[in-house]
Amino acid sequence: MDIKIVPLDESKLRTPPTNNFGFGNTFTNRMFKQWYSPEKGWHDAQIGPYEPICLDPATAVFHYAQEIFEGTKAYRRPDGNINLFRPWENMKRFNNSARRMAMPVVDEEDHLGAIVKLIELEHEWVPNAPGAALYIRPTMIATDPALGVHASKTYLHFVIVGPVGSYFKEGFNPVPVYISDKYRRAVKGGTGAAKTGGNYAASLLVGEEAKAKGYSQVLWLDAIHGRYVEEVGAMNICFVYEGKRIVTPPLTGSILPGVTRDSVLTLGKDLGYEVAEELIDVHEMLADIKSGKITEVFGCGTAAVIAPVGKFGYRDEEYIINNNEPGPVARHMYKELTDIQFGRSEDRYGWTLTIQVA
Ligand code: PLP
Ligand code: COI
Repeated sequence: MDIKIVPLDESKLRTPPTNNFGFGNTFTNRMFKQWYSPEKGWHDAQIGPYEPICLDPATAVFHYAQEIFEGTKAYRRPDGNINLFRPWENMKRFNNSARRMAMPVVDEEDHLGAIVKLIELEHEWVPNAPGAALYIRPTMIATDPALGVHASKTYLHFVIVGPVGSYFKEGFNPVPVYISDKYRRAVKGGTGAAKTGGNYAASLLVGEEAKAKGYSQVLWLDAIHGRYVEEVGAMNICFVYEGKRIVTPPLTGSILPGVTRDSVLTLGKDLGYEVAEELIDVHEMLADIKSGKITEVFGCGTAAVIAPVGKFGYRDEEYIINNNEPGPVARHMYKELTDIQFGRSEDRYGWTLTIQVA
């Protein structure tokens, strides 16, 4: 793919922050864009200034939410170069999401090539601070300006990037999680396995309800039985039994197949834990917390990497996990994963793609 590099207005350039990164509020000076039409396919690929997108108010994405996105990160290595972590998986998942949402796919090599080029140009924005990284957000939106309910013919694909610190205000401290009896995130046959905005929109009301009750995330149960654990907030979930067995729900169709989840399963096994993908009944799970059989619970996802869960609230009762402290398995997985991501340990799995900038 030929990418046109559009010059920036030097007088408007912003400089990278060195601390207080927050999450998702700061972006670099440039973004990638390309457009799709049935006649031309993907065309006019460019990296130019980060700027607002001007769209007709009738544009399909505003009305029927035909859109997808991805999330991955670039990490500063000790030698000054930059690592991407399993970006090939994100390129693949982007296209899986596109297929589910009746959108055109993007050549995976071209997509990754565009991200690498953007990071080469913006390499100074990759933080050199503990736990911080450059978040990468590829997105595709339907751009037909028409209100008929059908798949758009035209699309915009863009990538924005920005420095981020820890995702939760709690940092690595355990998050309190609310279990709703009423609301569901996704259903088998629906779009839960795709990374599409509607799944997140559906989660907001109960997210606010949870916040009002003092919880920072929601545990999602399956929508058919209201019984099997699926995800936690915008993360996959792992349960640790007796300090040695890591269990996560199987990918039944309504769960997003997380890159971090897959990495925890692979790493966990190699580090000597038993790992399993099993259905987890919420009532059994809560009983196992009470009896002490479940010793840890943690969420896993790109943004937080590993997020320990300190307690669940369900039907006016609280279930405290590991004295509301981060447990040894969560710490172990966090360290092993971030050591590979940041290039502090050997990449035994070929998971990283290094961009030479030093
Ligand atoms: N589940 C949902 C709903 C997500 O949004 C994410 C984040 O991307 C994940 C799980 C974790 O996926 P990954 O590890 O690929 O970031
Ligand atoms: C994750 O990376 O775990 C996320 O879910 C990102 C979130 C901002 C959608």
